[in-house]
Amino acid sequence: MNPKHILMFCGIGILQCFNAPMFHLSTASAADQVITVNAKKPGAVIQPTMYGIFFEDINYAADGGLYGELLINRSFEFPNPYTGWDISGKVSLQDDGPFERNPHYVRLAPSGHRDKHTMIENHGFFGIGVKGGEEYRLSLWARVPDGGSSKLWIDLVDNATMDEDQKLGNAGVEISGKEWKKYSVVIKPRRTFAKAHLRVWGDSKVTTDVEHISLFPVNTYKGHENGMRADVAKALEDLHPGVFRFPGGCIVEGTDLATRYQWKNTVGPVENRPLNENRWHYTFTQRYFPNYFQSYGLGFFEYFQLSEEIGAEPLPVLNVGMACQFQNGDDAHAACTKEGLQQFIDDCIDLIDFANGDPATNKWAKLRAEMGHPAPFNLKFLGIGNEQWEKPYFDRLAIIAPEVRKAHPEIKIIGTSGPNAEDDHFFNGWKAMRELKADLVDEHYYRDIQWYKKSMNRYSDRKFYTKDGPRVFAGEWACHDRGKKYNHAGASIYEAAFMTNIERNADLVHMATYAPLFSHVEGWQWRPDLIWYDNLSTARTASYYVQQLYSLNPGTNVLPTTISIAGGQPAANPVPEGEDGLFASAVIDQKKGEIIVKVINTLGNALSAQINITGLSKKQLAALPATAEVTSLNCADYDAENQPGRPEVISPVTTSVPLTAGSILATIPAKTFALYKVKL
Ligand code: AHR
Repeated sequence: MNPKHILMFCGIGILQCFNAPMFHLSTASAADQVITVNAKKPGAVIQPTMYGIFFEDINYAADGGLYGELLINRSFEFPNPYTGWDISGKVSLQDDGPFERNPHYVRLAPSGHRDKHTMIENHGFFGIGVKGGEEYRLSLWARVPDGGSSKLWIDLVDNATMDEDQKLGNAGVEISGKEWKKYSVVIKPRRTFAKAHLRVWGDSKVTTDVEHISLFPVNTYKGHENGMRADVAKALEDLHPGVFRFPGGCIVEGTDLATRYQWKNTVGPVENRPLNENRWHYTFTQRYFPNYFQSYGLGFFEYFQLSEEIGAEPLPVLNVGMACQFQNGDDAHAACTKEGLQQFIDDCIDLIDFANGDPATNKWAKLRAEMGHPAPFNLKFLGIGNEQWEKPYFDRLAIIAPEVRKAHPEIKIIGTSGPNAEDDHFFNGWKAMRELKADLVDEHYYRDIQWYKKSMNRYSDRKFYTKDGPRVFAGEWACHDRGKKYNHAGASIYEAAFMTNIERNADLVHMATYAPLFSHVEGWQWRPDLIWYDNLSTARTASYYVQQLYSLNPGTNVLPTTISIAGGQPAANPVPEGEDGLFASAVIDQKKGEIIVKVINTLGNALSAQINITGLSKKQLAALPATAEVTSLNCADYDAENQPGRPEVISPVTTSVPLTAGSILATIPAKTFALYKVKL
């Protein structure tokens, strides 16, 4: 019987029930429940990839988010070439620029009148966020088509100010000669402003051509010029992710094949990467973002580099020769013919060479070296196909996967079981992935609390998830609930509880990545999300802290863990289907010499639990410290959510608890994730 049963049996209010003598069964323990962790025989190895991150350019995750570029439509390649720009004076669009895949640029000619100014003004992504006193690098390509020299003025402005002068900071750039050259200048705004614009003024006497106008903070993550926004990337680094999946999600597939994500368009000089539409600009008419495109400035080189810098294994997912089946059904026009699959096979093999090959012998590896990374990126995993299903997918994977294996047997191939976690597509997908000998299968479940309550045993079902065969990659998942907020603390507690099941079954589950990862408060299409930001600040959600507690404390091996209720009767771990209760899992970190016990109370009332660590030698017991560390994330305020620019309302708190002969008498407050760490 677990406390929920007792509540049901009492049929009275929680407080009354907990005062009822029946709850305090005659017991050897002073606690409601006893958690026993057996440290004698460490079990399954926890893969270093276990707790990771899933990146997709949804919710302005790349341009306008993680990617440090502050200007929208920097190359005038949007379908409307002036999207994001206001123009005045004598501005004309030209199309014979220096970058063949982005041929447009603007010609700024003298207006012909002293008081008319030729000017272009960029709005950024929901404005340009700048911080007072920090440095911003403006760069552009320019020439003076008639020869000689000209001067451009660059102003960062606050259009809404009551000040006499709208300028927050400015700089001048001397342009010379008929040849295209890159110019750059640093601007230091005098105050912080989330909604700045950037103006480029033409010379009043000389015509100047301008292309690829770009503005980055000088202080990007790790200081790369084509770098990531520092606070956003730091939020990833602080997760210590084991694996980094990119670039999606549905954008891998595209609404049609022409608009699928094509990694080869995302590498090489940033000025020459062609624009692609972003399917999330039009997918939901109630959240429509017509200015949402992919500049590919954040491309596959940058993804690999970021993976390396945050310490995660890179996990690219490539297209299997099919556009999105949600948007097209099994329409044959949305898929490549089987005969035409060679380019998709090449994309896979060339990508592995781009990541790992020898620059002396391989052209893609040579490109990687030219981009600044001669050493390999050490790619080990490749996903082929996002949420695809049934025969059209299985047939194509059956052609692509063997070719990839032949060329690169060292790479683990990840297939998909489709968008759902329990329907026919899912079961057929698993069957096919077994037959095709996929190394891992990508499962997705964006589900509500009721589903999570019923699924706390998902990976203990070893009739379906057999000992051999593909391992599980829980590639997109999150607990959704009512109210549709940025994120729900009240739902996050079920994510924490569900993850005990992932952890206990580490022999089967090798990777798990919450999704989606990012969201701009003014540009979201999908929520909840793990990390939110506005133009100046970042918020880490309750779900983020759940992930972080796991990813910072993964351990090296699972320890068998049982829960019994006071009095010694065994209780299920986890509790029976569909119920709230106490959930636990434990690991040992053999390198650090510590045991970590994760305990989650999803009930609306506190529980006491005696945590007994058994199986320690006498010597180990004698050497234990007098206290254990406990870190608690309390999710009792159901609607609590951290928002950018506001003080955090929910975050983990670390204290210590007495540890006596390997036992901890713990009180776990309502809706709390408590993580106990015992140093050996
Ligand atoms: O994460 C949002 C979307 O959910 C992903 O693009 C897709 O894979 C899933 O349907």
